[in-house]
Amino acid sequence: VVEQDVGALRRHIALIGFMGAGKSTIGRDVARLTQRRFVDLDEEIERRHGPIAKIFDERGEPEFRRIEEEMAAGVLAAHELSVIALGGGAVGSTKTQDLLRARALTIWVPVDVETAWRRAKDSDRPLARDEGRFRALYEEREEIYDIVADASAADAEAVLLESSRIDFRVGALALLGKYVESPRAVLVVDERVLSLHPVKWNAPWVELQGTYTVPPGEDAKAVAVVERLWHEISLDREGTIVALGGGSTTDVAGFTAATYLRGLRWIAVPTTVVGQVDASIGGKTGIDLFTGKNLAGAFHFPERVVIDANVLSTLPEEERRAGMAEVVKTGLLAGRDVWSLPEEDMLRACAAFKSAVVLSDPYERGRRKILNLGHTFAHALETGSGYTVRHGDAVALGLVAALRLSGQPTDVVEEVLKPQPVRADRDAAWAALKRDKKGEGVFVLLEAPGRPVVTNVPDEDARKALDELIAK
Ligand SMILES: NC(=O)c1ccc[n+]([C@@H]2O[C@H](COP(=O)([O-])OP(=O)(O)OC[C@H]3O[C@@H](n4cnc5c(N)ncnc54)[C@H](O)[C@@H]3O)[C@@H](O)[C@H]2O)c1
Repeated sequence: VVEQDVGALRRHIALIGFMGAGKSTIGRDVARLTQRRFVDLDEEIERRHGPIAKIFDERGEPEFRRIEEEMAAGVLAAHELSVIALGGGAVGSTKTQDLLRARALTIWVPVDVETAWRRAKDSDRPLARDEGRFRALYEEREEIYDIVADASAADAEAVLLESSRIDFRVGALALLGKYVESPRAVLVVDERVLSLHPVKWNAPWVELQGTYTVPPGEDAKAVAVVERLWHEISLDREGTIVALGGGSTTDVAGFTAATYLRGLRWIAVPTTVVGQVDASIGGKTGIDLFTGKNLAGAFHFPERVVIDANVLSTLPEEERRAGMAEVVKTGLLAGRDVWSLPEEDMLRACAAFKSAVVLSDPYERGRRKILNLGHTFAHALETGSGYTVRHGDAVALGLVAALRLSGQPTDVVEEVLKPQPVRADRDAAWAALKRDKKGEGVFVLLEAPGRPVVTNVPDEDARKALDELIAK
C-alpha cells in the first residue's frame, strides 16, 4: 500500500520564518481550525527557562540554541499532532532540520525585511537590537528557510491549503504533467470536460501512458467503469492517476487509485464547484452500487489537488447551483459569509475550511461529521423523489431544514440558493432518512453560524422538518 502521508495528514504543521513574520498568530488560527494543539516554541522556552533575552545576556547565544534545539526535539517527537511555531533561528540546527523533515510539514511564513524590522525593533528580542545586524541575519536566514521548507504560505488559509496539498493555479490544465512526481501517469477524465477544455501535459519527463475517458457525471461511478479502468490501465507501483472532472470523476478515479495494485498515488484536478470546494478534498473515494450511492469506497487521499478556477467558465448553471449549496453549507459551518467573496477567494476559503476539518478528523470518527449539515434531509428528498430532485436543490432544502431545527434564521439560504419545496413521496423520503440514520436520530445542527453541533432530534420534529420541504 502506498503510504498515505499526504501534506500534514500524519505530521505536525511546523511554521518557520524570520521574527515578525506572524508565525504565532497564523499558528494559533491554524490550530483552532484544525483542532490541533498549538505550541509556540519561544513561549515554551520562556515558560521553562525564563525570558529569552535573559538567557542570551546571561548564558550566551550558544546556550540558548542548545536549549532551543532540545525543546524543539521534544515538541517534534510528541505523538500528538500539533501546530508548531518555531523561533526564527531554530532551523539553523541540523538536528532540528532532520526532525522537521521526518515529523512535520514545514511551512515558511515569509515577511519582507522592512516589515520584520518595524515589528521587531521595539520588542525585547535580543537579535533585533541593531538594525545592521538584523538585516544581515535576515539575508542569511532566508536561504536556510528556503532549503528547509516544504512550502511557503503567507496566511492561515494558505497554510491550510498547503496542509492538504491543495494548489490554486489558473491555467493548470495547460501544464498538468508538472504536478506529477512519479515517472509515469495516466489521465482519467470526464468525457465532456475533455471535449470542452484543451488539456496539455507539458512535462516530457513524465510519461503519459494513456488517457481514459469516463462518462459525464454520476454514470462514471459504476462498477463497470472501475472494472474497465482496472483492466485498461497498466501502471506499475510508481505510477500516478491524474483525475480531471467533477466529483464523480475524482470519486471513481480515486477509488481506482485506491484499489489498483493495492493503491497508487493520485492527483485530483476538480472541474466543478462541488469538486473544488468539497469532493476532491479529504480522501473519500467511491462508486455507487445498485443498492445505493457511495456504497463501495475507500479513504485514499490525493497526493495533490490542483484547482484551476478558469475551468468553471463552462459549467452549466444547475451544476454551479449545486456547488453554491456546498459553499453556503461551508459558510454556515465556518461562520463566514464566504458566498459574498469574489469567486476565487470563495473557493479558496471553502477548500481551506474543508482541509481544516479533514485534518482534525481524517477518517470521520467525530468532527468531520459536521460536513453532513443538511445532507441527511437532502438524501431523503433525492431518494423520496426517485432521484428527480437535483442534488444541489436537495442540499439547499436540507440546509433550510437543519436551520429550522436549530432555531436559526434561514434567510441566507433563501437569498443565495432560493430553494423551493419539491415533489417527493413523503413516506419514501422518511423511510430513506430513517435508513440513513441507521436507527439513530443524530443530526448536525447549528447553535449559531460557526458553531455546529451533532445532536439528537426526536422523530416527530425531524419528520415535520422533512415534510415542510415537500410540495403540497
Ligand atoms: N468524495 C467526496 O468527499 C464527495 C463530496 C461531495 C460530493 N461527492 C460526489 O461528487 C459527485 C458529484 O460531483 P459534481 O457535482 O462535481 O459533478 P459531476 O462530476 O457529477 O459532474 C456533473 C456534470 O458537470 C459536467 N462538468 C464537470 N465539469 C465541467 C466543466 N468544467 N464544464 C462543463 N461541464 C462540466 C460533467 O460532465 C457532468 O455532466 C457525486 O457523486 C457525489 O457523491 C463526493
